[in-house]
Amino acid sequence: MILLGIESSCDETAAAVVRNGREALSSVVHSQIASHRPYGGVVPEIASREHVGNFPVVTAAAMEQAGIGWAELDAIAVTHGPGLVSSLLIGMSGARAIGQAINKPVWGVNHLEAHLAGIFLDPAAPPPTEACPLLALLVSGGHTLLLDMRAWGDYRLLGQTLDDAAGECLDKGANLLGLGYPGGPVIERAAAGGNPRFVDFPRGMEHAKNQTTAEGLAIEMCFSFSGLKTALLYYLKKNPAVRETHLADVAASYQAAVMDALALRVERGLAATGARMLACVGGVARNALLRQKLDETARRHGARLLLTPLAYCTDNAAMVAAAAGLRAQAGLDNPPALEADPSLPL
Ligand code: KG4
Ligand code: ZN
Repeated sequence: MILLGIESSCDETAAAVVRNGREALSSVVHSQIASHRPYGGVVPEIASREHVGNFPVVTAAAMEQAGIGWAELDAIAVTHGPGLVSSLLIGMSGARAIGQAINKPVWGVNHLEAHLAGIFLDPAAPPPTEACPLLALLVSGGHTLLLDMRAWGDYRLLGQTLDDAAGECLDKGANLLGLGYPGGPVIERAAAGGNPRFVDFPRGMEHAKNQTTAEGLAIEMCFSFSGLKTALLYYLKKNPAVRETHLADVAASYQAAVMDALALRVERGLAATGARMLACVGGVARNALLRQKLDETARRHGARLLLTPLAYCTDNAAMVAAAAGLRAQAGLDNPPALEADPSLPL
């Protein structure tokens, strides 16, 4: 099965061709980072306007790099949520136009499930039937979820963020530190050589860890990053000179607090589920410190760590086509891409 994947849920315009849910024949991503950088975050109007211009170019490039003709496609898979509605609509309209022109079905893909498919774009990863049950940490700019993946398409939520997402916390922290955008990579760079114990930042809601949320999730498996961001804000107010004198130390301490908070909940998830496989997906999964901490955590529990290849951590379309391909392989339906849903749940 050969699918053309299309992704436009946020500020990346992406298209890719994937065979059998596992093999990326091409993956083209047009990042809009430069256009949003002056604003310190994604501006929806700018994002959708740029998607319109980039869509035809990116799609044509993905087909050309894959070296296949339109008639060889079995279907088109496009992200239909969650995301910015004005951005989603551009990719969906484009996908439907192509589908009409070549008379192929157009399937809607959940962006969160697409991130999970990133693991299986690593040729060395076992297929989902062997990898599951699996504990998955999904960490991106908009989401922070801890999931018990029982099979492809069968997910149980163990924990989620109670406020900001991990990537958002890095983006806001970078802004406070005057480091620019997006925050994850600039904090990682600034933290190099810094002392992660220089400032003792909070690691989430440890005081409430015996409680449950209104949805019945154990707080000890949930994440909270707004306190950390506030702690940085007050620390910088009290110690304004550290931006000049100890930037690497403060960045390293902040980064360590985020990654420790993530690894701690993963550890609890492994203990609670007894999963033999651990996976990490989403933009924050690019972070080397997080990868190292998860590697140590997995080893302690005798679990195997499956990491998303770096190119498929941040938003891309190969993961979108892969998700639809894996559903087809598992005998699950792919829904038609009818309406954009900005808050589509997994
Ligand atoms: O998955 P993604 O591209 O978009 C969403 O679906 O949200 O994730 C983007 C997020 C941003 O918050 C960015 O700061 C973070 O991923 N990120 C990183 C790194 N590279 C990107 N965070 C930590 N370390 C990195 N190297
Ligand atoms: Zn994403």
